[in-house]
Amino acid sequence: MKKLIVANWKMNPKTSDEARKLFLGIEHRMHFFNDKAQVVLCPPFIYLPQLSLYSHHIRLGAQNLHAKDSGAFTGEVSVAQLSGLRVTHVILGHSERRIYFGETDSQVREKIEAALRHKMIPVVCLGGDPKASKGTMKRLVTKQFKAAVNGLDKKLVGKIIFVYEPIWAISTFKNAEPATGEHAAELTLHIRDLLEKIVGTVHAANMPILYGGSVNKANVHEFSKFPTIDGALVGAASLDSDNFMTVVKEFHRESIHKT
Ligand code: 13P
Repeated sequence: MKKLIVANWKMNPKTSDEARKLFLGIEHRMHFFNDKAQVVLCPPFIYLPQLSLYSHHIRLGAQNLHAKDSGAFTGEVSVAQLSGLRVTHVILGHSERRIYFGETDSQVREKIEAALRHKMIPVVCLGGDPKASKGTMKRLVTKQFKAAVNGLDKKLVGKIIFVYEPIWAISTFKNAEPATGEHAAELTLHIRDLLEKIVGTVHAANMPILYGGSVNKANVHEFSKFPTIDGALVGAASLDSDNFMTVVKEFHRESIHKT
């Protein structure tokens, strides 16, 4: 399985010119790594049409979608509209959506189904609840996982990419600190156990499960060295192409090392 590194640019950068430069700084270097690593880059919606013209090695993802295909939903973007822009992935259930926009588990579940209906791959974040402490993450992840897959056909569950992204590790949150590699490995393994019960051991072993939260060039090895962590969801460090490419390189190196 290729390592997967997903860049979440959040509401950055400020101009389309900066977005193009940043994108090309990654795209132009990806041919060295795309044998063993896949990058999915999730910019703000408005940059997607432009960036889709330049993407060859990089796949494009959205940061959100609306579960309905069309209708009177001011300010929203549907999965049907995104599919036309060569968008293959969408981040769902992110902590910031849950906290600042009040997204509930059942809304996340609806969005997952909408994405899958259009053959878009949901990248589903687990761990985003400000009330959860480090000691209760396993319980929270289990609850959010069960809500995310509730009633979904197992074939569809098998297409979801899960990310363990504990809210307290996201660099922009107050007093943020990255998880330890051991903790991230334990929780990603826990997610794989949950998946095994639905899709079976063989399929679950081939599903990428990522870690997110303050991953950058300085600490990436702490996560990439664990075989149960198949990649990363990267926020702040993805806004600097050198920093981000070091994260990609490190996962690529581990992948070569282990095959
Ligand atoms: P940071 O990498 O800045 O901690 O952001 C993580 C994140 O929220 C990615 O979705």
